[in-house]
Amino acid sequence: MDSKIKSSPLTLRRLRQNSHVRALTRQHRVSVEQLIQPHFVVEGLKDRQAIPGLTGVYRENTETLLKQIESDLKVGANKLLLFPVPAEKAQAQFPQSKLSQSQYDFASDQIAAIKKRFGNDLWLSVDVCLCSTTNHGHCGILNEAGDHLDNGSTVSELARAAAQYAQAGADCVAPSDMMDGRIGAIREALDAKQDEKTLVMSYAAKFHSKFYGPFRLAADSAPKGENRLKDRATYQIDPGNFKDALASALRDEQEGADILMVKPGLPYLDILQSLSQEILKPWAVYEVSGEYASVELMAKEGLIAGPEAHLEAWTAFVRSGASMIITYGARNAQEWLKRL
Ligand code: PBG
Repeated sequence: MDSKIKSSPLTLRRLRQNSHVRALTRQHRVSVEQLIQPHFVVEGLKDRQAIPGLTGVYRENTETLLKQIESDLKVGANKLLLFPVPAEKAQAQFPQSKLSQSQYDFASDQIAAIKKRFGNDLWLSVDVCLCSTTNHGHCGILNEAGDHLDNGSTVSELARAAAQYAQAGADCVAPSDMMDGRIGAIREALDAKQDEKTLVMSYAAKFHSKFYGPFRLAADSAPKGENRLKDRATYQIDPGNFKDALASALRDEQEGADILMVKPGLPYLDILQSLSQEILKPWAVYEVSGEYASVELMAKEGLIAGPEAHLEAWTAFVRSGASMIITYGARNAQEWLKRL
């Protein structure tokens, strides 16, 4: 009997046999350049604090934040998403809503300090939302009955915050609240200041997800409420609703967003793929705290190779249409990529 097996016309394994040919045939790869590092800066914090599940990420004070950024720049992590957490929480319910311009001063001061020190060596985007600022932890202002987030007053508050952050030096403002019409209102507020340069990155397809857990500890932003307001289901997108995500993204594009985002990442890859094919804007994806922490906690238990697993997830994002990735591991990427 002839022991030779006739080669099949589909000899796919020939192109998998060594790292050289795998590199030559690989279609999608991640680079440090496309990663954005989130930062938490907390007013009045004495020492920086670790965040459960988010290895290597801290709640910082102004001083430790600047130090951290300095060391991040050395490893190419030069794109930032800043989450400012003020000490005072404002009453944010009609009729005595107490939000005022000074509510955003802590954030503006951090932006100005970062830009003063590092200028254009970095690109600074800033989260625009009320959840770290309000006493009830919701992303907006409550109506008088306390059973609904008032859209109009929330949007004008967000536009005011965004314009202030832009003036303080932010390169990009990123509203994560999911109110209707906020992109248009922010664009209008920027236009009114003759600001032609500040980008708006919209959390366009932000789902009502359980994967935001560690973040809410870090940003001190968990919603406190009852019934319809026990969570964020009345403003974030239902996980089973693709059409709502599409409508939200189309609307935000029309209102003038420069960059659109899908959030979370891995559980919503199908959304990222469809939307990025449908809408010709650059797409960002947010590998959220719960996703990041899942890998980290498994790695701690010896169940998974952490860095390689993160890189695998990032590659999936790029393959699915993301041109940029917000990830807590951005500052580790340079080192991790050497291992491939
Ligand atoms: C707040 C906001 C959230 C995240 C970013 N901005 C959480 C939320 O909606 O409660 C989540 C980020 C993460 O989990 O890493 N509007």
